[in-house]
Amino acid sequence: MDFRNYRGTVFFAIKDKDNFARGMNHMLAEVVAGGIFTGDNMISLSKNMGFLDDADFMQAVSRNVSSNVERSTIWRQAVVAWAAREGLRREGDFVECACYKGTTARIVCDYLDFGKLDKHYYLYDLFEHDPTMPHHAMSGHSQELYATTQARFSDLPNVTVTQGAVPAVLHSVAPEKIAFMHIDLNNADAEIGALDLLFDRMSPGAILVLDDFGWVYYHAQHKAETTWFAKRGYRVLELPTGQGLVIK
Ligand SMILES: C[S@@+](CC[C@H](N)C(=O)[O-])C[C@H]1O[C@@H](n2cnc3c(N)ncnc32)[C@H](O)[C@@H]1O
Repeated sequence: MDFRNYRGTVFFAIKDKDNFARGMNHMLAEVVAGGIFTGDNMISLSKNMGFLDDADFMQAVSRNVSSNVERSTIWRQAVVAWAAREGLRREGDFVECACYKGTTARIVCDYLDFGKLDKHYYLYDLFEHDPTMPHHAMSGHSQELYATTQARFSDLPNVTVTQGAVPAVLHSVAPEKIAFMHIDLNNADAEIGALDLLFDRMSPGAILVLDDFGWVYYHAQHKAETTWFAKRGYRVLELPTGQGLVIK
């Protein structure tokens, strides 16, 4: 029996991409029976990838994903979608620091039919970038991105997109109770600031996904967050996707 594959094409920080692709294809040709995943700096073999069978998730992804980078990060999106779904069983609202273009949050909204839920989704980002900022710039950052991202959620009255710097902005707009949280700020100080303000508001059993926790480029976050959680008696689970997972 042959199992299906998911072949994303995006790998980061590769010296010679053609050489890398040749080597990878050469290696994968030797795999028996499939179950191959490639993309987002992950190569995994002989896996079921059950998220590919979740029709609601796959529809939400195909409706909202438009680039090869976004296509290659489907396993990360599946982790976030699962954690958010678990949040439906917990008291409180959903939070994402930060949302950028809103792609992951929009996948979650479509997956869970969020507009029909008695929950609120709080999304934050700076949306613009200047060279003094400690996180790296992204190609979509611009003066228009805030409005574009707001427009992406304009059909959902229970989603609030706020422009501002985390953690400062959380003093003005933030839920009292949190059922699911996704932190993806690419910056250790900002992430620790968000944890200082919001982790205590998470309901028991609510899941926190730290997008950058396992990536070597964000080792400072790994170090700061490992220490922060150890002081509170938690250990972060590092996933092969590069995400970190904490159950409150
Ligand atoms: C990788 S992107 C987020 C992607 C998004 N979570 C998704 O999955 O589609 C990281 C974002 O963090 C934002 N950011 C970095 N530091 C921030 C801060 N202190 N406050 C608010 N946003 C910040 C950046 O503007 C950038 O858009």
